[in-house]
Parts: sequence; structure tokens; C-alpha cells
Amino acid sequence: MSGHGEAIPMTSRRAAPLKGEALVPGDKSISHRALIFGALAVGETCISGLLEGEDVLATAEAMRAFGADVERIGDGEWRVRGVGVGGFAEPEDVIDCGNSGTGVRLIMGAMATSPITATFTGDASLRSRPMARITDPIALFGARAVGRAGGRLPMTIVGASEPVPVRYATPVPSAQVKSAVLLAGLNAPGETVVIEKEATRDHTERMLAGFGAEVRVEETEEGRVITLTGQPELQPQIIAVPRDPSSAAFPVCAALIVEGSDVLVPNIGLNPTRAGLFFTLQEMGADLTFENPREEGGEPVADLRVRYSPGMKGIVVPPERAPSMIDEYPVLSVVAAFARGKTEMPGVKELRVKESDRIDAMARGLEANGVSVEERDDYMAVHGMGPGGVPGGGAAQARLDHRIAMSFLILGMAAQKAVRIDDGGPIATSFPAFEPLMSALGARIERANR
Ligand code: S3P
Repeated sequence: MSGHGEAIPMTSRRAAPLKGEALVPGDKSISHRALIFGALAVGETCISGLLEGEDVLATAEAMRAFGADVERIGDGEWRVRGVGVGGFAEPEDVIDCGNSGTGVRLIMGAMATSPITATFTGDASLRSRPMARITDPIALFGARAVGRAGGRLPMTIVGASEPVPVRYATPVPSAQVKSAVLLAGLNAPGETVVIEKEATRDHTERMLAGFGAEVRVEETEEGRVITLTGQPELQPQIIAVPRDPSSAAFPVCAALIVEGSDVLVPNIGLNPTRAGLFFTLQEMGADLTFENPREEGGEPVADLRVRYSPGMKGIVVPPERAPSMIDEYPVLSVVAAFARGKTEMPGVKELRVKESDRIDAMARGLEANGVSVEERDDYMAVHGMGPGGVPGGGAAQARLDHRIAMSFLILGMAAQKAVRIDDGGPIATSFPAFEPLMSALGARIERANR
């Protein structure tokens, strides 16, 4: 089951050379934040290029439940009339965040310092993911949480009625945790400080500053120290969401491994806290260039030009790069299967608590398709079989995880025999147009009976 209806089994066969332009959807991280921050501003925020995937639509619905006026004007065009910091109303019903860890964790943070109570749930994947990483820090502000064993959803948060500011060092490299603490800090008096040892995606800091909050970022010996002054009046914004580098990863990686491919992926956000995959691919020998580099809405942007790259070699991916490509390891492990030699991925423990245990999901699915994988708690290595060398012919479980589903469909595009997945339904959480977009480039994806 996809968690969103009947399972949709899919098959991906060896593709024709991939050619053309891939217009990938808006950035998921920025889309969630645009809606949430818009809901916390006073006045009307206008958003264009919003990702209209299930995850983000669930966040839009949640913002309505907390009292914001959220309206879809047209394709990717949305307006949010916010209630102001501290203005959230108490939702009348349970908030269902679907598959989205980012949605639920950021919203929990945002409501934790308001005197309201809200209950959160999600699909089977989200209900299995750890929430203590959020409930621990929001307890320091004065919020209380009651959930299932192991800190799992469904969970009720009772917001602090007299919140105090917090100084918090994140115990795991997580932009969701950092963001939840900063969002809780918005409605606390005084300064809330978050310290992260390794830099994670910084959209929250950048966007909150854009909305008029006072945010200071310092690089110190302790790590990145982010200081937010509480109780600002956030000013509504006009936001053009850049296209998602994590979605761009799929057509990019497909073009690298499908013989004869030449694909342009225009207008991709290349925030350094997100672009780790592209540098890794270049180090492996990928023919990947950044054309027309420019700046849009304060973010670096470029068009990615990618061509079939039979010369790629396995490398050791530096562990300190992990936060800047954390969502891209599944599809990197597919590319690694077509490189020569071993690709090692150390320091990837966080992959175990994503929409699925992504190390296990990739290892099992790759093995089922004839690729040998080594796996430890925080490490994965793929033994490359060279261009065209992956047998395929196996089935992989998507495990309610969009990125696992898409990664195995990419594997099938260059493997000798077709690759099947049990359920492509979760792809709609982040990349609803994946199938038509990849098919227009030359992919052969079919919805098949198992
Ligand atoms: C996200 C942060 C990352 C990432 C997720 C989106 C965000 O999660 O995996 O897809 O928008 O803040 P973690 O913070 O758990 O690493």
C-alpha cells in the first residue's frame, strides 16, 4: 500500500538515450517553509513555483487548521494570509501530515510556544519515525508532548503558555530539528540560540531573515551558532520557489548512466547546503556542468547540463558532506552501481530514520538486482559493475519512500533487465510529474501488475 491509496506497481526498462529538458518541481524544503512562515506573518504572502506534492499540500491544510487563510490561485501560485507570530488558533481536529517529516516537525516547533493543544499523525512511514528529537528541545521552552512508545506519532503537543527562550545544541545533524527550535523561538521572549556542529540546509535562517526576523549566524569553534530574537512581527513576502536540487538528482543521475544521454535541467537551486551530490558526481568523473550561474531570491541557481558518463569511478564520499546531500544517497548508490570500483559512503546513519531505513532499502533492492553492497550502521558501500554492467531483473520494495521508489526506476533505465517496484504511489509526495517528465526524456516506465 502507498498509504495514499492502492499500491501502484511499476516497471522500468532500459531507456532510449535521454534527451531534452527536465523541468523539475519546486523545492520541497522551501515550499513547506514558505507556507509556514507565510502563516506566521501579518498580511499576505504570495508564493510562485510552490511544489504541489502531497507533503506540501498537507502542510497547506495544516496551516488552514491553525487559522491561516491559504488559497491556491493557479499552478504553483498560492496566497497565504498569516495570523502573526503567536496567533495560531487551536485546530479542531487531528493534523495529518501524511508522509512528511519536515511538515510535522516544523509545525510542531511552530505551535510549541503558543497556548494551544494539537494532535499530529501521519501515514505508516511517518508514524514509525522518531519525534523525540523535536519533543526534547520544545520541552525546554515549556511545551509538553504525549505520544506512542518510542516518541512516535500520533502525538499531542500542549504548547507552552509562558515560553522561555532556549539555547540548544542539536545532537544530530538535522535541519528539521534546527528549524523546529528556531520556529519555537519565534514566540519566546529574548534570544533563542541553536548550535549545530555540522552545517545543515539553511533555508530557515535565510527565509526568516527575509521575513524580517533578527537572525544572526556565527561560525565558531562549537560550530554554527544561530541566534534568533523572539517575538518579531514577520512581514509578508513575495517568494519564487527555486526548482528542487533533490528532485533534479533523478534526471541528472539517469542521464549519467543511460547511454547516449544529454539532458538540461534548468533553474536548479544550488545552495551550498544542498548541492553536495553534484560535486560528488563531478569527483566520480560525471560530465555535469553548471550553465548560466546566477542568483535568484538570494539563492545561487544554475542550469545543469548532464551527459552520459561511462568513465565514472567509485570514490569515498567525505562524511562531512553528508548533510548537504542527505536525501541523495539512494540515487547516488544507483549511479555507483554503474561506476567502476567501489563507492564508499561513511557517516550516513541519519539515512536509517528517513521515510524508510534507506541503507537497508537500497542494499536489499540493489542486491535483488545483482549489485553487491556492504552495509554497517552508519556506512554503505556499493561495488560498481561498470557502464551497462548491472543485471537488473529484480524487484525492490519502495517502503512508502518516494526517493527509494524513484531510485529503483532510475536503476531500471540502464540495467540489462527491467526493474520492478512494488509501489510508485509515494512518488506523488515530492515529484508528482516524475513519470511523464522522465518518459518525455526517453524513459520506459510502465504501471504493471505484479
Ligand atoms: C529537510 C531536512 C532533512 C531532509 C528532508 C528535508 C528540511 O531532514 O532529509 O528531506 O526541509 O529541513 P533532517 O533534518 O531530518 O536531516
